Amino acid sequence: MSRTAVVTGGASGLGLAVCEHLARQDRHVAVLDLDGDAAERLAGDLRAKGHRAVAVKVDVADRGAVDRAFDEVRAELGPIEVLVTSAAVSGFLPFEDVGSGDWARTIAVNLTGTFNCLQSAIPDMVAARWGRIVTISSAAGQTGSPRQAHYAASKGGVIALTKTVALEYAAKGITANTVPPFTVDTPLLRAAQEARLLPGPDVLARMIPARRLGTGDDIAAMCAFLCSDEAGYVTGQVIGVNGGAVT
Ligand SMILES: NC(=O)c1ccc[n+]([C@@H]2O[C@H](COP(=O)([O-])OP(=O)(O)OC[C@H]3O[C@@H](n4cnc5c(N)ncnc54)[C@H](O)[C@@H]3O)[C@@H](O)[C@H]2O)c1
Repeated sequence: MSRTAVVTGGASGLGLAVCEHLARQDRHVAVLDLDGDAAERLAGDLRAKGHRAVAVKVDVADRGAVDRAFDEVRAELGPIEVLVTSAAVSGFLPFEDVGSGDWARTIAVNLTGTFNCLQSAIPDMVAARWGRIVTISSAAGQTGSPRQAHYAASKGGVIALTKTVALEYAAKGITANTVPPFTVDTPLLRAAQEARLLPGPDVLARMIPARRLGTGDDIAAMCAFLCSDEAGYVTGQVIGVNGGAVT
């Protein structure tokens, strides 16, 4: 049975890989992203491969815009029963230099944005008595991360939010899990490396027991499993896909 999946941050990196995996699982896919052109390109690619897909430009930090975007998806593809939240911003600043604007925007997009999307989608899942939620958090939210107080705090919040939603909705057939990546080769990671905010790929790979960076497909394969019927008894879990970097 085809079900409709919303993927936030779906136009790039991990979110893009998740859209491709969910489409291959026969989900109808809504690509939600601040970058509307890139979202439209991906939705067009998916449609060209025979999948049902739409793109909606949205800032997940804006609750009104999120509700309108989800209504647009419902009108085009039907009720939303799968949600993967990958949209986020990142940044590197010494703790003393984290300004109130840096803090506010990071929390607004990463944590409040996740809250907005979960709350907007869940009524459809409750009505269906079936739902799958995967939030993309970060190893930074598990262990802390130097020069990332704002980012790590937002991702720690995403982990706690996901566990709480899992507990509240487990009896309604809805699962909620979080995948906290460590280092995955995406445009976000490359931009940080080019700006010399992170070491290059070889140095990073040596920090990982598996001796390589993650790929979007590594993360998306786990997300696709967590969104499947078979994963119905997995909920409230923090599932690292990180080459052993955090155990
Ligand atoms: N790449 C890594 O090494 C890594 C590590 C840990 C966690 N993560 C997490 O994985 C997720 C995806 O990261 P990525 O590396 O694929 O990044 P990316 O920058 O390639 O993709 C993020 C996408 O989110 C979109 N986005 C940003 N702000 C938005 C907003 N306000 N509303 C809607 N869309 C917005 C961007 O336009 C972009 O398309 C993020 O949650 C990130 O924190 C990534």
